[in-house]
Amino acid sequence: MDASTQLYGVFGNPVGHSMSPVLFNQAFLDQGINAVYLAFPVMDIRQGVAAIRALGIRGVSVTIPHKTDIMDCLDDVDDLARRIGAVNTVVRVQDRLVGRNSDCPGAMQAISEAIPISGKRFAIIGAGGAARAIGFGLKQQNGQVIIINRSPERGEQLADALNADFMPIADAKSLACDMVINTTPVGMTPLVSAMPIPIEALDSGMTVMDIVYHPLETELLKQAARRGCRVIGGLAMFLYQAACQFEWWTGKPAPVDVMKQIVLERLTS
Ligand SMILES: NC(=O)c1ccc[n+]([C@@H]2O[C@H](COP(=O)([O-])OP(=O)(O)OC[C@H]3O[C@@H](n4cnc5c(N)ncnc54)[C@H](OP(=O)(O)O)[C@@H]3O)[C@@H](O)[C@H]2O)c1
Repeated sequence: MDASTQLYGVFGNPVGHSMSPVLFNQAFLDQGINAVYLAFPVMDIRQGVAAIRALGIRGVSVTIPHKTDIMDCLDDVDDLARRIGAVNTVVRVQDRLVGRNSDCPGAMQAISEAIPISGKRFAIIGAGGAARAIGFGLKQQNGQVIIINRSPERGEQLADALNADFMPIADAKSLACDMVINTTPVGMTPLVSAMPIPIEALDSGMTVMDIVYHPLETELLKQAARRGCRVIGGLAMFLYQAACQFEWWTGKPAPVDVMKQIVLERLTS
């Protein structure tokens, strides 16, 4: 690091568990980019955005709970992020701060590596920011979507916004779909034995994706694999959405293999 080192970071609360600093610092090192990426616990997002401007921070990842509130603090929000209603990336374009959403393209890349999206039926468990980004991307590519959520009000709202169906989580005993995607934190460390839906809801022909990546193999994925389902862990989406951020910030292709290796090392040590 020297006087030219560029600063990047993640804004959220909490951020102590974030894998992003390890991932981006390794990517900068690998690409010979003189930059550093830090985790900033941010309570007040207005003050956070003022700090981006005051300190000349080059780019920021945005996480819970600021993905929606930050939209009013930026100079611009791109069309996709505005339609999703959530920003998880701030990109500096000359002196303007632009909000973007990399969860959507990151998830679409992970999903389309497993199954073609058009015409397939997807059950999304959850109705938060990640569910919005994924649901929006699937609908954009002609996927059929059903939202399953704990709180019916939030679930119905998202289903309406996406022109999708809604099912209360209590009714999710058998799902007629090609792919089930868990977007809730259920199953995340430390409550690793929790299941977002009963295992009986899954059939062997289904693909099951969990966007939780800590642990790498959640209880949902373990039980789904035992039932004969094809399973996809949350690491793929995490890496692909981070790769989008890296490319938006630096204009260079992201070293995805290097990023994957360092995250795997940390998550398995
Ligand atoms: N792999 C990746 O790249 C990636 C990217 C983004 C997010 N994520 C992960 O995805 C998860 C969700 O993120 P988010 O931004 O969408 O969060 P969020 O906006 O807070 O939404 C959370 C959703 O999960 C539901 N939920 C929470 N606790 C639950 C429980 N105990 N039982 C049933 N449902 C529950 C909530 O239901 P209610 O509406 O009923 O409260 C809500 O629908 C987090 O674990 C996050 O780390 C991963």
